[in-house]
Amino acid sequence: MKRSEINRRIREGIEFFDQMNFKLPPWALFSPADWRKVVADAAEIFELQLGWDVTAFGSEDFLHTGLLLFTLRNGLPGSTLYPKPYAEKIMMVRENQVTPRHFHWYKREDIINRGGGNLIIELFHADPERNVLVPGKFRIAVNGLRRELSPGDRIILTPGDSVALEPIHAHRFYGEPGSGNVLVGEVSMVNDDTTDNCFIDGVPRFDPVEEDEEPEHLLAAEYRQHFAEVRHA
Ligand SMILES: [Fe+2]
Repeated sequence: MKRSEINRRIREGIEFFDQMNFKLPPWALFSPADWRKVVADAAEIFELQLGWDVTAFGSEDFLHTGLLLFTLRNGLPGSTLYPKPYAEKIMMVRENQVTPRHFHWYKREDIINRGGGNLIIELFHADPERNVLVPGKFRIAVNGLRRELSPGDRIILTPGDSVALEPIHAHRFYGEPGSGNVLVGEVSMVNDDTTDNCFIDGVPRFDPVEEDEEPEHLLAAEYRQHFAEVRHA
C-alpha cells in the first residue's frame, strides 16, 4: 500500500471513530515526532504493537478487500512483563469491504457490532489441526445463544449483536451494502497477528508499504523500525 493511502485511511478512521463517539487513546493521534518525545516510556505500546493497522491483504484494493484496525490492548504470551491474557481492538468495516476467510489456531475472539451499519459474517467449519475446511454442521454462539450452522451460512450482526468465534470457526466478513460503515469491536484472548492467522485462500495479512509521502501516524508494526533502540524497561 502507498503511504499516502495509509495516511488517508487513518484520517478517515479517526473521523469515523469520532463520529461514532468511540474515544481512542491520546497517542492514536501521535506523529512520529510526538512518539520520539515519549519513546523512553512507550516500550509496552511498541513491544505489543498497539495502535494502527491498515491492510489491503495484498489486494491493492483496500475498499474491496481491506480492513482498518486499532489495537487498544494486548499481552505477550509467556511474558512476565506483559502478562495480559486478553486483547481488544476496534475496527472500521465498510460496505462490501471484505476481510478474507481465515481462522485462528489459538485465539478465541468475540466480534461485536458496536454501531453504524450491519456486519455480515460468513462462517465455515475449520479443522485447525489440519489447516483445512471440513463439511458438516457446527455450533456457534450468537449473542450468547447457541445456533447450529452449515458451512457458508451467513449471520448478520446489527448494532449490539456479537458472535463468539472459536478456532473451528473460519470467518469472512464485510459491511452490509446500503447500511453504512460499521464500528466493529473485538474482545479476545491475547493476539499475535504475525503467527495466529490462517488465511484459507492464502492471502497475506500485512502489505509492503510504498513510501510516496511522509507518515502522518505510524502503523503499529512500524514502531520497531523507527525506534530500534527501545526495549523493555
Ligand atoms: Fe478473525
